[in-house]
Amino acid sequence: MTSGLFISVEGIDGVGKSTQLGLLEEFLVAQGRTVLRTLEPGGTDLGQEIRHLLLHRKGDVAPRSEALLYAADRAHHVATKIRPALERGEVVLTDRYLDSSVAYQGVGRALDAEEVRAISMFAVENLLPALTILLDLPAEVARARRSQTGQEPDRLEREKVEFFEAVRQAYLEMASREPERWLVIDASASIEAMQEQIRDRVKQLLAR
Ligand code: TYD
Repeated sequence: MTSGLFISVEGIDGVGKSTQLGLLEEFLVAQGRTVLRTLEPGGTDLGQEIRHLLLHRKGDVAPRSEALLYAADRAHHVATKIRPALERGEVVLTDRYLDSSVAYQGVGRALDAEEVRAISMFAVENLLPALTILLDLPAEVARARRSQTGQEPDRLEREKVEFFEAVRQAYLEMASREPERWLVIDASASIEAMQEQIRDRVKQLLAR
């Protein structure tokens, strides 16, 4: 049904996802592939409005409401952008996908991880990436990197280091349960070394 290649990048805030995505995009374009680079939350116009509600609106958001807003963003993103691109045979690179919800809402927010996964799978009609790249870094290190950017932290970034460490562990556990989909990269390595590992794995997928 889908002839393209679907890749997501995951990790806690501050691990360098955009840098690696940018380099991977360059590589794929040089290989002659058409790439759709996108992100969650906010990969569509509707998603931008949902992103604003999630990250910049004042006041608390109830955990289940938060999980459903991310799922609503994702449903529209998949239906209107990701699936059509895959059907056109393109490579889709997304900065975060449903594993973010399982890790952040399912574990970080202490909802039931299986339930969070189930609402996301409903949202995306069971579409999973062929490859999910996890950039892994201890929460303390990622926080130190984030503070160097000088940007004002959003609502989630204001969470404590324990929250991010729980999210990190949730990612590692998902990766160990489904090793054929996940590639875990030690994000304390150099940008070039990380990119090399990513390209090696992507080359294998392109050769299939
Ligand atoms: P963003 O600025 O895109 O963060 P980053 O650059 O680290 O990806 O903000 C997205 C925030 O939303 C980030 O803190 C993670 C969080 N998030 C969830 O909690 N659940 C989700 O399903 C998704 C997609 C993101």
